Amino acid sequence: MRKKMFFFLFFSLLFNQFAYANKLDGEKLFKEYCWGCHHQTAQAFGPSFKSIANKRNRGEIISQIANPNGTYKTLGYTRNSMPSFDDLNADELEALADYIYKFKDKK
Ligand code: HEC
Repeated sequence: MRKKMFFFLFFSLLFNQFAYANKLDGEKLFKEYCWGCHHQTAQAFGPSFKSIANKRNRGEIISQIANPNGTYKTLGYTRNSMPSFDDLNADELEALADYIYKFKDKK
């Protein structure tokens, strides 16, 4: 009985490790693709993630990343200076949106 328990624990830990390793890292994606123009909390060439998280919903954020040319007007900009990241997959877009929401002010 104890032995069975041990194996159960061992394998569930192992499985968790894999699940964790496969989870996309929004911070890593941010550093790779966005950091040149966006800062987490300060205005840079583009607005800070903090200000974005405070005023936009998930759909607006994801559309802007994937297709800023189709979104910038709706968000109130007069022109678009952001490249589109249309080669990112849905999981990567979600991971980036999660990362942006980490900087939302707590109310
Ligand atoms: C070349 C510079 C540049 C890069 C790289 C860039 N952005 Fe932007 N981003 C901008 C600018 C400038 C704006 C302002 C609106 C516009 O120009 O379309 C913007 C706007 C945004 C907005 C909407 C702002 C709002 O008012 O809600 C989001 C969300 C956003 N960027 C996310 C990202 C993410 C995530 C990445 C990385 C995958 C990224 N951006 C990469 C320059 C950039």
